[in-house]
Amino acid sequence: MAFTSICPSNAISEGGMGLFRAGKKSVVLLWPQGGELAAFRGRCPHADVPLDGAIFNGRILTCPHHNWGFDGTTGKCATHLVATKLHPYPVRVEGDEIQVDVGPIKPERPSV
Ligand code: FES
Repeated sequence: MAFTSICPSNAISEGGMGLFRAGKKSVVLLWPQGGELAAFRGRCPHADVPLDGAIFNGRILTCPHHNWGFDGTTGKCATHLVATKLHPYPVRVEGDEIQVDVGPIKPERPSV
C-alpha cells in the first residue's frame, strides 16, 4: 500500500468532483460542501460499472446508470435502503498534489 499522486491539489474545489486514474484503477474524488475531501473507487457499487457521467451536487453523487445516489461524505447509498456503498480509498494532500492509496497499482499497458 502506497500513496500515489493523481492530480494537482487545485484540480478540485469544495462542492466539486473529479474522476482520475491511478494506474488501471479509476478514482472519484468528492469534496462535499462543508466537508472534507474524500476518495472512492470510480465504479458504481450497484452494478460495478464506471462512474463516468456521474454528477455531484455538493452532497450526493448520482450514478447515471440507474440514478442511485451516494453520500459524498460516507459513500453510503442515500436513495435506497441497501447496504451498498462506494468503496473508500485513503486520501491526503501532500504539497500541491492529491494522493490516494488504492493498494497495488498495475501500470497502464502501453498503446501499440
Ligand atoms: S449502476 Fe450505478 S445505480 Fe445502477
